[in-house]
Amino acid sequence: MRRLPPVLLEDGCPRELISLIRTVLAACKEISFRVGQGALSGVLGSTLDENIQGETQKKLDVLTNQLLKDILLESGYVKAIASEEEDFTVAGNPDANYIVAFDPLDGSSNTDINSLVGTIFSIMAAPEGADPADPSIFMQPGKNQVAAGYVLYGPSTVLALTTGKGTRFFTLDKTHGTFLLTQDFATVPEETSEFAINASNQRHWQPAMQNYINDLIAGDTGPRGRNFNMRWIAAMVGDVHRVLCRGGIFTYPTDTKDPNKPNKLRLLYEANPMAMLIEQAGGIASTGTERIMDIQPDAIHQRVAVILGSKNEVETCLSYHK
Ligand code: AHG
Ligand code: MN
Ligand code: MN
Ligand code: MN
Repeated sequence: MRRLPPVLLEDGCPRELISLIRTVLAACKEISFRVGQGALSGVLGSTLDENIQGETQKKLDVLTNQLLKDILLESGYVKAIASEEEDFTVAGNPDANYIVAFDPLDGSSNTDINSLVGTIFSIMAAPEGADPADPSIFMQPGKNQVAAGYVLYGPSTVLALTTGKGTRFFTLDKTHGTFLLTQDFATVPEETSEFAINASNQRHWQPAMQNYINDLIAGDTGPRGRNFNMRWIAAMVGDVHRVLCRGGIFTYPTDTKDPNKPNKLRLLYEANPMAMLIEQAGGIASTGTERIMDIQPDAIHQRVAVILGSKNEVETCLSYHK
């Protein structure tokens, strides 16, 4: 098993980017410890506050955001950050070359039931000479990402990381506090018989998704001619990790439940980094009409429909949208 930095150095990854990734991971190690302490450290439960998304913040949403924000801004490696839990972007070192968007705790409704949660991050180059306080530095499509990853706080703490040379898994050795390479090049199998969707929203989906899911559920007596299994963790990190490990299709499609919020997942710190990890493992990530990483963002908390995973199955799903 190899440690994190030599692997990235072999890829020709700039030292400054490696240092930035190590900084993100330093915060994630602390988060892993806090999440692991659970009820013992009094971090479970909700606050009385709402974030800009209109979600009640869990105590761990606030704590993990503060940890990442402080360590990134103090590091000197970032020009600005954007977070699910921050209303606006936050300026960092004007001379730094990178910007980081993150979801400090994904799946935070799982905190109180001791189920999967994670941290998702996306790193892009800061436009040269840009003002660190100008939020438009984040208005870049996901294909500009130089690194993306998540840390899944499960029975073990696992990092999925890409710097554009494949997707790798590292496992946190909690006795030494080091992420060790445990799988070089994850590959999403092209075929799958497993799907992930919050089926309670079925009546609110658009006809294309209704038809696609109906055909999966029809099983071996339907047009697909075989049975499909369903999984839903309610934490995108958990669902995407399963897809990276054994294939599958994950979707959070557009729905009409709340006319002011047709999509749930956020482009900059959920859809884009997951899309890069999935594409780097041979999968596809689309909104139904376009490649996620081609979208030109116009707001930091912008939301998009997400359909990602095994190549052939995502293509089948997209064929219903034509
Ligand atoms: P977050 O906890 O960061 O707000 O994200 C939750 C997201 C995502 O992780 C998950 O796939 C989805 O919300 C779950 O949505 P439902 O509660 O509708 O199942
Ligand atoms: Mn949230
Ligand atoms: Mn999230
Ligand atoms: Mn979150």
